[in-house]
Amino acid sequence: MPHANIDVRPINPTIGAVIEGLDLTREMDEGTYADVRQALLDHLVIVIPEQHITPAQQLTFARRFGEVEPPHPVFGRVPEQPEVTVIEQDGSADAPYNDIWHTDVTFREKPAMASILHAQVLPVGGGGDTLWSSLQAPYEALSPKIRELIEDMTATHDYYMSFGEMVLAGPGGIEKLAADIIDLPPQTHPVVRTHPETGRKGLFVNRTFTKHINGLGYVERDYLLRMLCEFAEHPNYQMRHTWTKHDLVMWDNRATMHIATSNFISHRKMHRITVLGDQPYH
Ligand code: OGA
Ligand code: MN
Repeated sequence: MPHANIDVRPINPTIGAVIEGLDLTREMDEGTYADVRQALLDHLVIVIPEQHITPAQQLTFARRFGEVEPPHPVFGRVPEQPEVTVIEQDGSADAPYNDIWHTDVTFREKPAMASILHAQVLPVGGGGDTLWSSLQAPYEALSPKIRELIEDMTATHDYYMSFGEMVLAGPGGIEKLAADIIDLPPQTHPVVRTHPETGRKGLFVNRTFTKHINGLGYVERDYLLRMLCEFAEHPNYQMRHTWTKHDLVMWDNRATMHIATSNFISHRKMHRITVLGDQPYH
C-alpha cells in the first residue's frame, strides 16, 4: 500500500516510473522510503524530477538503500565526496563514454545493487538521452527451449574489456592497468540471475563487460552472447529518458542495463552514486 505523499506513475508497463511528491533536500520518513524502494523493485527505473540537492544530499538518499560503493576505478569524482562519480563529456572525442549497453560494474564480484544519476549540466542543443532495458522482460520472452539451454550457464565479466585500452593510454598507463587488474580480476556470474528481493529471474549479460559465456567453444559462446544481448536490447523492453536539469534517476542495476546516447556536442555532466550489491546467484 502506498504511504500517502508520493505519486508513482508508470512510464510503460515493462519498465520505468516517474515519482512525484518527493523532496530529497529533506530526509525521507520510513513509509516514504518503503514506497520508493517498492517502486524501484516494481518498475526497475525511477525518475524523480526537480531535486535541487547537493552531492552530500544525494549520498544521504543513496545510503538509505545500503552502503555506497568505493570510488570508481576510472571515472572522475567529486573532490569533497569521492563516492560521487562524475560522468562528464565536454564534446571531445576521447572523453570516456557510456554509449554501449551495459550494467554498471559487473566486473566486480558484487556488482552495484543500484545506481543513482543526478543531472548537473545538460548539452546545449539537446541530445544525451539515456535508455534503460529491463533484463527480466526479455528473459521471460525467450522461448522455453532457450531458457532451458542457458539456465545453468555462467559468464566471465572483465573490467579490462571496457576500460583496458583507455587506462593503458592514460596517466600511469601500464602500472595503473596492472594494479587495476590485480584489484579487479575477471568474475564469474550466472547468465540467468534471480533477483534477491523479488525472486524474479532475468538475464545477466551485457556487451560492455561480459567477455564470454563459459563452457562453450569460441564460436558458440560469441554467438550465444551476442544473441542474448541483442534480444535484450530490443525496444520492446525499454524506456528512454530526456533529461531536465535536477532530474534524479535511480535504477535497479540487478535487473537492467542502460546506454547513454552521444548525439550531442557541448558539455554534459552527471553525478553518479552506486549502492553496493550482493553476489549474483542463479
Ligand atoms: C552511468 C551511465 C549514463 C548517462 O552513469 O553509469 O552509464 O546517461 N550513465 O550518463
Ligand atoms: Mn552506466
